[in-house]
Amino acid sequence: MSTRRRTLLKVIVLGDSGVGKTSLMNQYVHKKFSQQYKATIGADFVTKELPIDDRLVTLQIWDTAGQERFQSLGVAFYRGADCCALVYDVNVMRSFDTLDNWHEEFLKQTNIIIVLSQGNLPRRQLLWKCINLFNLIKANLSDPRTFPFILLGNKIDIDGGNSRVVSEKKAKDWCASKGNIPYFETSAKEDYNVDPAFLSIAKIALANE
Ligand code: GTP
Ligand code: MG
Repeated sequence: MSTRRRTLLKVIVLGDSGVGKTSLMNQYVHKKFSQQYKATIGADFVTKELPIDDRLVTLQIWDTAGQERFQSLGVAFYRGADCCALVYDVNVMRSFDTLDNWHEEFLKQTNIIIVLSQGNLPRRQLLWKCINLFNLIKANLSDPRTFPFILLGNKIDIDGGNSRVVSEKKAKDWCASKGNIPYFETSAKEDYNVDPAFLSIAKIALANE
């Protein structure tokens, strides 16, 4: 019988539609890849158990819809996240340009930025701020500069890397500007760097727990 302590960690995967969020998760959890694109509707999670040090970690990975019209569940499920994985497609500049939005939106929705903002507020806003503070405590989130993100640059297999439009340096510079976010280049299709990326996610989430 295992004497390992069990730990549940929650990870939210965000990024533009079509960058390969679902494919990365399918590759990681089911070791499967499909060429066919089927847009994710709403959000759903899969779990994977993995031993890390003296723990048995259950990684609960939340897959989300990149397409706005399918983001029907809102963002309530962001609450309690231990890590946020941002994904872009190295061959699509727009998916890289929107990373700022995903990053900001995640922090905003988990109420971190609002709570930490300063200034004299009207009563209604103050009440709102208190609610956010309550949520923040419940969510066990702290400082936006230390909330653990990770960035995955996916589809590096395409055209042997010849069609990529975002260089590794550019991606790493972005990560540095956001407080040294760890960066992995992946291929869900070829199962390249998928396990190491998710192991890193689990370790980061565990450290934040
Ligand atoms: P939404 O659910 O709309 O947000 O999209 P998504 O980010 O989940 O993308 P999805 O995983 O559905 O992949 C979109 C398309 O890209 C599919 O046709 C996949 O087969 C393809 N794809 C995903 N990852 C890779 C990869 O690493 N390499 C290649 N060549 N194709 C990939
Ligand atoms: Mg999807």
